[in-house]
Amino acid sequence: MSDKKNIAVIFGGRSGEHEVSLMSARSVLSVLDPAKYNIIEIGITQSGIWLTGEHVVDAMEAKSFDHLLPVALLPAPLGGQLYVIKDLQLVPLAKIDMVFPVLHGTFGEDGAIQGLFELADVAYVGCGVLASAVGMDKSLFKDVMRAHQIPVVDSMLFTRYHIHTGINEIMNAVEKSIPYPVFIKPVNMGSSVGITKCSTRSSLMEGLMDAARFDRRVLVERGVNARELEVSVLGNEDPIASIAGEVIPSAEFYTYDAKYRDNASKLIIPADLDDETSAKIRRTAINAFKAIDGAGMARVDFLLDRENGELYVSEINTIPGFTSISMYSKLWEASGISYSELVSRLIDFAEERKLTRDATEHVFDRSKG
Ligand SMILES: Nc1ncnc2c1ncn2[C@@H]1O[C@H](COP(=O)(O)OP(=O)(O)O)[C@@H](O)[C@H]1O
Ligand SMILES: [Mg+2]
Repeated sequence: MSDKKNIAVIFGGRSGEHEVSLMSARSVLSVLDPAKYNIIEIGITQSGIWLTGEHVVDAMEAKSFDHLLPVALLPAPLGGQLYVIKDLQLVPLAKIDMVFPVLHGTFGEDGAIQGLFELADVAYVGCGVLASAVGMDKSLFKDVMRAHQIPVVDSMLFTRYHIHTGINEIMNAVEKSIPYPVFIKPVNMGSSVGITKCSTRSSLMEGLMDAARFDRRVLVERGVNARELEVSVLGNEDPIASIAGEVIPSAEFYTYDAKYRDNASKLIIPADLDDETSAKIRRTAINAFKAIDGAGMARVDFLLDRENGELYVSEINTIPGFTSISMYSKLWEASGISYSELVSRLIDFAEERKLTRDATEHVFDRSKG
């Protein structure tokens, strides 16, 4: 038996960021050393089926799954046992020592799959259930920031039910409290899906209805005329922050097309900032990460008000775009940590986190006093 670790890289998934995840996974796989790890590729199809085999990323991109095998990880503490599902039977395939989830958005970045890893008692890269869920929920995230005196933009929260039953009341409440332009967002989403910038009552109505398609809860935020800055955070107990980068969106704001389609948005690394602002951003990024009990990695995004210099935390991404040319990795590269070093540190942090979990007692043993 070799003493190589079995590492499962999981990608694809049911979210709108399926394709982005495949690109991120391709980068991660390219730097995992086969001399050090047995690499198991697991692709999750858009309908949620887990598949393994050879060259799974290619297969997922080509949507040709015939040569792949359906696999399952059970919600029982079986030491990371992975099964192939064959003729409705579970056939043991391999024991996984570590999972590297390279999934963005719903079910991958929101704590759902992290919950399965916890139940399966397997080590995994990145944030746990709580940090993932809070990081994904734009409304609770802001509440946590406010509780920690970390500045965020003013916002109001509404439910789909109220949008559908009393939209006029909601629009009156918004217009009373927040000046135009406002940003309307589904609370749990990403990649700018369902987000509209509104400057009139009629676009406010459309924006509320649209956002409510993508989530049960909708956030309305004051629009800030702002520079968009991003910082990468890495670590567990004592996380470090990279230098800051700036995004210059190709559109009026950083829309889906500006992020992935038109190739015209710019990433400026390092961002042109005075020392004081730069230090403040890095400090705040670490505080935000700690406030949600982050682990492993996250990218913290900021809005820097062009008019008065106010700095706001905009959001946290617990599994940020992770190709070797994504902002998260480029910020580390510019801070002296190469992409392959980054991947290997994340694996070390995942191991460390697993040991901490193993050392935690779950049952109160009276005999130990
Ligand atoms: N309050 C705001 N003021 C100004 N621009 C905003 C505001 N909220 C969002 N934006 C713009 O919308 C983009 C997407 O919003 P964000 O909250 O980051 O959602 P996502 O999770 O989809 O990336 C931001 O990158 C920014 O360009
Ligand atoms: Mg964003």
